[in-house]
Amino acid sequence: MEEITVNLGPRSYPILVGAGALRTVGRRLSALAPGRRTAVVSDRSVLTRYGPTVAESLRGAGFSVTEILVPEGEAAKTLAVAERCWDDCLTAGLDRTSTLLALGGGAVGDLAGFVAATYMRGIPFVQLPTTLLAQVDASIGGKAAIDHPRAKNLIGAFHQPLMVVVDPDVLSTLPDSEFRSGLAEVVKHGIILDAAYFSDLEAHVAEIISKDLPTLERIIAVSCRLKGRIVEADEREGGPRATLNYGHTVGHALEAVTSYSRWLHGEAVSLGIVAAALIAERLGVTDAETVRRQVSLLRALGLPVSFSAPAPHVIVEAISRDKKARDGKVPFVLAPRIGEFRLVFDIPADLVASVLAEMQKGAG
Ligand SMILES: NC(=O)c1ccc[n+]([C@@H]2O[C@H](COP(=O)([O-])OP(=O)(O)OC[C@H]3O[C@@H](n4cnc5c(N)ncnc54)[C@H](O)[C@@H]3O)[C@@H](O)[C@H]2O)c1
Ligand SMILES: [Zn+2]
Repeated sequence: MEEITVNLGPRSYPILVGAGALRTVGRRLSALAPGRRTAVVSDRSVLTRYGPTVAESLRGAGFSVTEILVPEGEAAKTLAVAERCWDDCLTAGLDRTSTLLALGGGAVGDLAGFVAATYMRGIPFVQLPTTLLAQVDASIGGKAAIDHPRAKNLIGAFHQPLMVVVDPDVLSTLPDSEFRSGLAEVVKHGIILDAAYFSDLEAHVAEIISKDLPTLERIIAVSCRLKGRIVEADEREGGPRATLNYGHTVGHALEAVTSYSRWLHGEAVSLGIVAAALIAERLGVTDAETVRRQVSLLRALGLPVSFSAPAPHVIVEAISRDKKARDGKVPFVLAPRIGEFRLVFDIPADLVASVLAEMQKGAG
């Protein structure tokens, strides 16, 4: 079992990565949690598969367990669902010393984190991520949120978990499209933070695609360490954490203009990475080979690298409405070389539009 520590002073916590890790949750929580009551928040498809393992582990360690069932996917991240969770916490008799555990993808994690952050002004919280995206990204860093009808993730809090337990075994039941979507964040970590990691991914595409367990354990642990390091440097997202936005400026715009229905998040990020790479090349910030390696790896992992609609000007317009915009300027993260990043603020809209048009020609 790989153990990574996120060092945040009094809010430091371990990330445990290893096949079978879900069976150790109860024992590990015993050493950390003040109270004996717990509630596990999950959706039906995850709870059916992995709820019994977690509940058994918790009960075996002397905890009482209440299961709180929430809708699948983004439908969980509403005020109405959060209110039902607060209600269930009260009914289960959870107090300030009780622990809330999120068992599921990023949506369940975001919702449960929000409930844990707000119930009685904040109670202990544990992340048990079951999608690749949640394992390498959403479960680390303490960002929790629900959606506002007019904007995703608008209502939220920072609430760091007591621990994150990552069991790569559960990825065997994850649909392939969801798995690939998570790989976009893995590739992103390599591009902006770690050239050796990027080369490792290039060299093991076949093992990754076939979900070879030792390979998954290794790459998930590296990604968790990289994300953890960024969170340590910038817990509340005022500086370095913005670099994790690589590929997300265009990615978020693509998701928004298609009402989150055309691409999974990681697929939109893959297109956003290609756009960022081409923008960097046009600006003379990077070279053709660095662009080629990014595009090839994404394509080899089954992620999209070109698209046919919507029109570039529609996407550029959506970028200008990005919530990361400051004084009307949207920051772009660019990669001068594999393993390096640079934040650039003043990229002309017509350059972005021209790169998007080039990607659409590729879709032919
Ligand atoms: N807090 C953060 O820092 C952060 C970072 C990135 C993303 N997010 C959020 O994460 C959410 C997306 O998360 P996601 O990509 O994990 O998708 P998701 O949480 O919507 O889950 C996708 C689907 O996979 C199913 N599933 C989960 N694990 C499974 C398993 N092991 N086997 C079979 N099916 C399984 C779920 O039931 C669900 O239907 C978004 O709401 C996004 O805003 C948060
Ligand atoms: Zn992302």
